[in-house]
Amino acid sequence: MSFTIAIDGPAAAGKGTISKAVAAHFAMAHLDTGLLYRAVGAQVLAGADPLVAAKSLCPDDLKVSGLRRPEVALAASEVAVLVDVRKELLAFQRSFSRREGGAVLDGRDIGTVICPKAEFKLFVTATVDVRADRRYRELRSTGMDITLEQVLLDVLARDARDADRATAPMIPAKDAVVIDTSELSVDEAIADAISLVQNGMKS
Ligand code: CDP
Repeated sequence: MSFTIAIDGPAAAGKGTISKAVAAHFAMAHLDTGLLYRAVGAQVLAGADPLVAAKSLCPDDLKVSGLRRPEVALAASEVAVLVDVRKELLAFQRSFSRREGGAVLDGRDIGTVICPKAEFKLFVTATVDVRADRRYRELRSTGMDITLEQVLLDVLARDARDADRATAPMIPAKDAVVIDTSELSVDEAIADAISLVQNGMKS
């Protein structure tokens, strides 16, 4: 049986943490679709053509180090504007979403474009200051020398590019449940998301 849970939202809203926990709770497979764009972005920073990189993407490319770096995130949001790159990455995401046993996919356009018929859709958000602060702490904890101001500017730039692009813009699907994690601890956000999915499964 396939069951798809689509989780979208802006940068550093908590999608990744929530998606991993929801997938573990329901014993489903999880795909962080941002990694696909980050992997293409990283190859472009190394001199590759975006479409060539997207066409030849393989599972090992998602494991290379440095994909979480801010410059790779920005490069990801630049290649994510390209229609042909998005088309190239679509089939893999769709087939993943139909895995036996269910799948959780997180990204920007999962509920709107990749899996418009997903059984459950969540849009995870938080204020931009909270999101920048979380990402700042995350990056600092890896030893990165970066300021909160830089992180805030990166998040704002990426949000604007993701929301304003013509193809697959970041927008909540009409039937998505919106959860704001600004005032929630990690455990509270996870518990809320799991109970929302559980209620959605019953209805
Ligand atoms: O972890 P964070 O939310 O900061 O970013 P991410 O999910 O790893 O995504 C990196 C970038 O990839 C985003 O800023 C988007 O431009 C792009 N992306 C996208 O366009 N569509 C997706 N389904 C996932 C990511």
